[in-house]
Amino acid sequence: MIEFKNVRKVYEDGTEAIKGIDLKIPEGKLVALIGPSGCGKTTTMKMINKLIGLTSGTITINGRDISEEDEVELRRSIGYVIQRIGLLPHMTIEENISLTPRLKGWKKEKYESRVEELMNLVGLEPGIYRKKYPLELSGGQQQRVGVIRALAAEPPIILMDEPFSALDPISREQLQDELKHIQNSIHKTIVFVTHDIDEALKIADVIAVMRDGKIEQISTPRELISSPANEFVRSFIGEHRLNVSKKEFLVADIMDDASIFPEFEAAEYETIPHDATLSEAAGMFVSKQPDKLVVMKGGSQVGSVSRSDILKAVASESRREAQSQ
Ligand SMILES: Nc1ncnc2c1ncn2[C@@H]1O[C@H](COP(=O)(O)OP(=O)(O)OP(=O)(O)O)[C@@H](O)[C@H]1O
Ligand SMILES: [Mg+2]
Repeated sequence: MIEFKNVRKVYEDGTEAIKGIDLKIPEGKLVALIGPSGCGKTTTMKMINKLIGLTSGTITINGRDISEEDEVELRRSIGYVIQRIGLLPHMTIEENISLTPRLKGWKKEKYESRVEELMNLVGLEPGIYRKKYPLELSGGQQQRVGVIRALAAEPPIILMDEPFSALDPISREQLQDELKHIQNSIHKTIVFVTHDIDEALKIADVIAVMRDGKIEQISTPRELISSPANEFVRSFIGEHRLNVSKKEFLVADIMDDASIFPEFEAAEYETIPHDATLSEAAGMFVSKQPDKLVVMKGGSQVGSVSRSDILKAVASESRREAQSQ
């Protein structure tokens, strides 16, 4: 866990960029920092890997105060992806991705197979792209390399500062899907800066909404939409999203009720909370490929959903969306 306690940042020119924030970033979760330009997202993020020093307060990672950690060591355990990629132009794609593993002294065999695995994960055929140079790739392909380069040495923490904002909408959606898919299997602690609320709602486990150096609300995407803390958060989310989201079906709406269909063995199956949305359920079927999910509420099983239930529900939900437009 990364924990901020009463952290302030005043830049040399007197700008008070961060005005005393408390923030807990749980292990294995993707936390989005969102807010208008200049609210302090990048500053907050860069304080985690000490690219920016804090003025007062403390930041701890798994209980250890980062002010006592060696900067170089710290940065090797934290992957970093920025908006404008930052690939090294004179290194091949393979060399770029394997850079940190090589710096860490991994054996050739190990880092080569890691490079191959990661390239496949984001749909870059290693046989075609491994030996190319960054400028021989499209922007979207380069950004994919940027993302997997940050994952290569398996750092427990990854910082991403608007990593997809320079991409066209299609590449952007694809990379968001890929990131979600990857995260479902690797469960890293990811701090993701964005000012796109749709992006945050789509990929984050937890969203921290910032304004003017402070945090206005920290909650799950669903809570954020169902109970925005104040007018600022409300207007930041946007009225149309508040309304649309209320209509989305939940798993509990379409499950087979356990009191009616009691005969399955819960222990054999993955579980899903009763208030998960259809999209979340669909995501689990895609990433984990189960036949069935057991629906849980307050610690006990209340039903089950099958792959075909979800497929049917998603199809009728999309029809409904299309009709209402
Ligand atoms: N090196 C610096 N010196 C002085 N002020 C700075 C410096 N870097 C950032 N600031 C100021 O600190 C505040 C927060 O900046 P920051 O870059 O963290 O915002 P941001 O939320 O990431 O914005 P954006 O969405 O535009 O990237 C802004 O008012 C900015 O002008
Ligand atoms: Mg920024």
